[in-house]
Amino acid sequence: MNNNNPIGLFDSGIGGTSIWKEIHELLPYEDTIYLADSKNAPYGQKSKDEIIALSIKNTEYLLNQNAKIIVVACNTATTNAIKELRAKYDVPFIGIEPAIKPAAVKSEKHIIGILATQGTLNSELFHQTAEKFHDTKIVEQIGTGLVRLIEDGEMHSKEMDSLLRKYLTPMIEANIDYLVLGCSHYPYLIPQIQKILPKDIKIIDSGEAVARQTKSILSERNALKSEDKKGEAVFYVNSSPKVLTEILQDKYKVIARDF
Ligand code: DGL
Repeated sequence: MNNNNPIGLFDSGIGGTSIWKEIHELLPYEDTIYLADSKNAPYGQKSKDEIIALSIKNTEYLLNQNAKIIVVACNTATTNAIKELRAKYDVPFIGIEPAIKPAAVKSEKHIIGILATQGTLNSELFHQTAEKFHDTKIVEQIGTGLVRLIEDGEMHSKEMDSLLRKYLTPMIEANIDYLVLGCSHYPYLIPQIQKILPKDIKIIDSGEAVARQTKSILSERNALKSEDKKGEAVFYVNSSPKVLTEILQDKYKVIARDF
């Protein structure tokens, strides 16, 4: 592993930039390459085989750019494909899974809600994790349509508000005290979600934990880049770059190209 090589990340679109931000904040000297596979979004309704094939395509692209570690910045791709990726490639992979554990451990009511894609909630990995916390009631909700609206730049639309109300109301009625955001797109919805949820329901996502894990794996392998100059970040997107550029506030290099 060459320490000066970049950290590679991929997601079905712009959502994984919520993970990238945490990594960039914790490891500002590292170079990063981010793939937004928006052309194929949403992954959440695709079959496991399709998700594996797309994850392999993204991984190959990042390896061709010399990624020293790959962060699968997508819950759906992690829960459906990380086992296959780890078996196929030598490079270390960091995955992102819904933060069931911290929510279950902290919940006083022992009732938590999870909002995630169909692909994540149907995956074997999700069920294995959920079974470990059988003392906690988990109210599951598929966030159909949310990723599409975010990718289309409709994050603050009326349609988003009514979908969120529809998905969150049963959880409020079920008396949850923690809401797990099990999709890397959803942290961008936190302000809207907070307007709907009562104040005593707390929101948890996995971004910070993924960043800490990335740092610890790189440091275990002596693969952290030296702290001589700030890292460079490049974002590739295979459909319109508009929403990605907006979300990054025009501060970083966004390249539109097919991959
Ligand atoms: N950001 C992906 C995730 O974390 C979104 C999946 C999708 O494209 O449906 O699950």
